[in-house]
Amino acid sequence: MFSRIVATGSSVPELEVGNDELAGLVDTSDEWIVTRTGMSRRHIATTDTTSSLAAAAARKALDAAGLSADDIDLIMVATVTPDNFTPTVSCQVQAALGNTAATCLDLWAGCSGFVYSLRVADSMIRAGGVHRALIIGAETLSRVVDWTDRNTCVLFGDGAGAVVLEASDEPGVLACVTRSDGSRGNVLRIPGLANSNPWAIKAASDADAIAPPPSVISMDGQEVFRFAVGAIQWSLEESARIAGIDISSIYRIIPHQANNRIIDAVASRMGIERDVFYTNLQRFGNTSAASIPLALDELNRAESIPVGAYLALVGFGGGLTWGGSVIRWAQTA
Ligand code: COA
Repeated sequence: MFSRIVATGSSVPELEVGNDELAGLVDTSDEWIVTRTGMSRRHIATTDTTSSLAAAAARKALDAAGLSADDIDLIMVATVTPDNFTPTVSCQVQAALGNTAATCLDLWAGCSGFVYSLRVADSMIRAGGVHRALIIGAETLSRVVDWTDRNTCVLFGDGAGAVVLEASDEPGVLACVTRSDGSRGNVLRIPGLANSNPWAIKAASDADAIAPPPSVISMDGQEVFRFAVGAIQWSLEESARIAGIDISSIYRIIPHQANNRIIDAVASRMGIERDVFYTNLQRFGNTSAASIPLALDELNRAESIPVGAYLALVGFGGGLTWGGSVIRWAQTA
């Protein structure tokens, strides 16, 4: 028993914000952002939420597969920006789709959330407990960006991408690898809720220790950059090794869309043609857990990926977390 991707979908908010508009908020310029990141614009939510984007991407994937909501028995959403702590985004998606058959599960693994979710769903399908899964990466990072911090606010965007993964006799997902290093968690943080428990406040020797931390992204950009290059290389090498294929036979690599320079560095270090890496960060920025399925859907709709072609998906991000997958492309609807 294997799992394979049979359809993709995506959704982004209507509003596009260009670099020049950000230069009106912080001390930056189009030239700096393009040169240092490759990004020109990103979609920003105004009325959309993480769950509305996730549900819209899921509907498109279901439509592409010619399936109805109740054909799905697992809904997984990878996100670091859920609408609520409960209900989960996956439960909200279930309600929006009118599905009654699925187990719903959110997964937090930073920008690696989609590849982590693919690994979990693939394992559940191969174990026989699930027949067909919707795996969605969805974010509204605009809610947790510090819009006064030029080091971070130029990097992120909002959106969602989804795939339908189903049980198959033919090999589809050939390998999934994941790693984590919690000791380096402070390199990229979005703090949780402030503690308003009166006993904790009383017990705190230093009032500042429980002062509400601003729930915004903070990051050591250069440290993340260094980590990312090694993480992508390991994920590619390890997933190709387990899949039993040579990296040179991969048709397209879809990396997490964080920075063109990270991808350039990996390509040159590993001797891989730059064109093998698919990027759309120019138009979407870094959409965290949404970035890989968003790019996969765009690629799938833009060109016909040959059936049987090998694709590699590679993620890295907060936690620290990283991982990848090699898949053999199936006929998509
Ligand atoms: N506009 C103009 N100047 C900016 C700026 C901006 N938006 N952001 C930072 N700068 C300035 C810095 O303040 C610094 O100025 P200084 O030299 O006077 O101190 C200068 O540009 C260089 O900063 P530096 O951090 O060295 O730039 P960089 O080349 O490393 O690029 C990142 C910064 C964030 C683009 C890059 O490190 C990066 O992409 N890292 C990975 C981030 C990432 O992928 N995060 C998500 C992971 S899931």
